[in-house]
Amino acid sequence: MSSDPFDFAATVRAIPDYPKKGIVFRDITTLLGDARAFRRTIDELVQPWAGSKIDKVAGIEARGFIVGGAVAHQLSAGFVPIRKKGKLPYETVRVSYALEYGIDEIEMHVDAVEPGERVILVDDLIATGGTAEGAIKLLRGKGAIVEAACFIIDLPVLGGADKLRAMDVPVRTLISFD
Ligand code: PRP
Ligand code: ADE
Repeated sequence: MSSDPFDFAATVRAIPDYPKKGIVFRDITTLLGDARAFRRTIDELVQPWAGSKIDKVAGIEARGFIVGGAVAHQLSAGFVPIRKKGKLPYETVRVSYALEYGIDEIEMHVDAVEPGERVILVDDLIATGGTAEGAIKLLRGKGAIVEAACFIIDLPVLGGADKLRAMDVPVRTLISFD
């Protein structure tokens, strides 16, 4: 891995007023489409765990599947999909989580993790942290040890990373946007 500084933030596109007025949507498709940026992003995200034994990487639908799959490959770990309700084919465990307005539910297969397995949670972005908090509850509910949660982008004003740290989950992010 190269050690020269890399401007990750410059590879993320900002879309004003999407999906609704007042939201600046942070679009990672530009980062993903840039081979060097995608490679550097995955290398940087996994750097603290290079060479350590991680059993599984859990990725949150949908953008967390793209990032989490690459992270799992890099760490030679298995991959666990955490999906919006009704998408997984086998028996699931489910949790409700808060959205900006209202609630939604995410699910994981009941046998996706074993008690004591060391898991890293991955998504593209953390905002309020509601989605990641729900995912941590699912993983811990099945006895997994959540070693850390990794996100390309943090929106710190919304407090999500602090929420996860208060749950004793170390948080790693590469970019912060106000
Ligand atoms: C986005 C993002 C995270 C979540 C973060 O997903 O990819 O999963 O929001 O928000 P939070 O920290 O406030 O919970 P979204 O729900 O838009 O779903 P998508 O990836 O399927 O578009
Ligand atoms: N998920 C929640 N807030 C978001 C934002 N501003 N950009 C992209 N994904 C998001």
